[in-house]
Amino acid sequence: MKNKIGHDIHTAAKLLQHGEVVAIPTETVYGLAANALNQQAVEKIYQVKNRPSTNPLIMHLAEIDQISQYVSEIPTSAQKLIESFFPGPLTVVLPRKSTVPDWITAGRDTVAIRIPAHPVARALLQMLNFPLAAPSANPSGYISPTKAEHVLRTLGNKIHYILDGGPCETGIESTIVGFENNTPILLRQGKITAQELERVAGDTREYHGTELLSPGLSKSHYSPNTPVVLCENLEASIKGYADKRIGIITYNHYTNHIEHKDQIILCEDNHFETAAKHLYESLHQMDQRGYEILMVKKFPPIGIGKAINDRLQRAETRHPFISF
Ligand code: TXA
Ligand code: MG
Repeated sequence: MKNKIGHDIHTAAKLLQHGEVVAIPTETVYGLAANALNQQAVEKIYQVKNRPSTNPLIMHLAEIDQISQYVSEIPTSAQKLIESFFPGPLTVVLPRKSTVPDWITAGRDTVAIRIPAHPVARALLQMLNFPLAAPSANPSGYISPTKAEHVLRTLGNKIHYILDGGPCETGIESTIVGFENNTPILLRQGKITAQELERVAGDTREYHGTELLSPGLSKSHYSPNTPVVLCENLEASIKGYADKRIGIITYNHYTNHIEHKDQIILCEDNHFETAAKHLYESLHQMDQRGYEILMVKKFPPIGIGKAINDRLQRAETRHPFISF
């Protein structure tokens, strides 16, 4: 099965042209890509991921000047964000033209657009004469993949090819922004923070409503099979689960209450970008080790720390009975 992973962009392009799904690298996480304009190909994405059909997909393009083919109106704030952050870890949700098929948007009148910065993804998109629909390449609800091996382990028996572009640089999914008139609404936290959006596009709101503006953002998501407990204070939490086999993920230093071999430090350099890059890899690793509980120390809500906490909160919600 190992030979499903390869570096051959032409193999990937050929499979996509034939209506197959292919896992591709992006700078955020690996995506499960298919020809966005081919209904049967896109349906395969939903089957492979076991994704609810009500959850729309992001359309990935090669170039900024392609956006107007699919979007009916671009507010000036969106234009500024596009010019500043594309290609990069940002997705914009904009009113769609009828050129965007219903099977991408789950019937919505908006489409999510992203231009990835990863050189392999860009080269692939430039070779194709269609956009790629691509959600993260994980089984629905499980941790997103940041290495080709993660995709192989979780979806390897369902797809033909995984295009290897090395470990993802950002490590968590793109920031998603919608617009209310001209005001950017932050729908999903990511590497590009609310402050950065605001600096470029002016007044920006974080969406805290209960209505699911972005349907994939259910409270429970991104979860390993091992129950996750998100802790402010690791030592106190460890005491509460003294009879359990505990694995620990923390950002800065080992706790002396648990053997070091059962702990992963995410960023010895104390840069939260480094932590984000290693977060999903660490969750994948820890989930293989058979702990009864995975404790993760909450990040200070600074920079990308906010996005990390957002993902960890969703990981925790899957097993609410065990919350600390
Ligand atoms: O970094 C990323 O964005 C990765 C890489 C592969 O590009 N993709 C990704 O896709 O995270 P996915 O499907 O796992 O998450 C996309 C989110 C979902 O929560 C989905 O509901 C939301 O975007 N979304 C897609 N289209 C939307 C729309 N028209 N309006 C609101 N939310 C939308
Ligand atoms: Mg996803």
